[in-house]
Amino acid sequence: MLDLFAEEEPWSEPLADGAVILRRRALSDADALLEQVAKIAAQNPFHHRITPGGHRMSVAMTNCGDLGWTTDSRGYQYSEQDNAGGTRWPPMPTLFRQLAVSCAAEAGFANFNPDACLLNRYEPGAKLTLHQDKDERDLRQPIVSVSLGLPAVFQFGGFERSDATTRVLLEHGDVVVWGGPSRLRYHGILPLKPGIHPQAGAFRFNLTFRRAH
Ligand code: SIN
Ligand code: FE2
Repeated sequence: MLDLFAEEEPWSEPLADGAVILRRRALSDADALLEQVAKIAAQNPFHHRITPGGHRMSVAMTNCGDLGWTTDSRGYQYSEQDNAGGTRWPPMPTLFRQLAVSCAAEAGFANFNPDACLLNRYEPGAKLTLHQDKDERDLRQPIVSVSLGLPAVFQFGGFERSDATTRVLLEHGDVVVWGGPSRLRYHGILPLKPGIHPQAGAFRFNLTFRRAH
């Protein structure tokens, strides 16, 4: 019998060579993931970092795992501690690691071994301008990005900032994996539209898993 309330099975949408969207792949784990996000944030709160250029980022960030991505007046770097508080990042929850490793494998990247997970929190108007993820040492390992909460438009471009971009809507439970020939593609998030998400309220959360060191 047709069950109108059954969850959709995940499906995949190729983005580029080495890049794929695994639609709804994290949906069945979403509540548990959000619970862990709240626990991590209770230990190391989200905050708006200041870029080396002196700008306050509209996205609020925290991290879990052995290393966390931070920025301050000295530049962008991975560090073992939150330089705002001087404490180690909370460990990466097993559920986070398992999800990231299996999504990477499904996208063709076996043996992904993330040591860092950046948690981004977007409020209405928050955006991430086009950038490359290039502070990691081993660029053979992919990036795995999990979207939760309010939908956002993801831009996926080329290898120059000025290259044309593809725009895709990322929704609650969507996972994007990019690596190999796409590892250094520019990407970004357009300003978040206001809304209320039943599980995440007025926010979008994004978890990005990386092998930093
Ligand atoms: C990122 O580029 O690190 C995050 C992208 C996103 O929020 O989807
Ligand atoms: Fe990024």
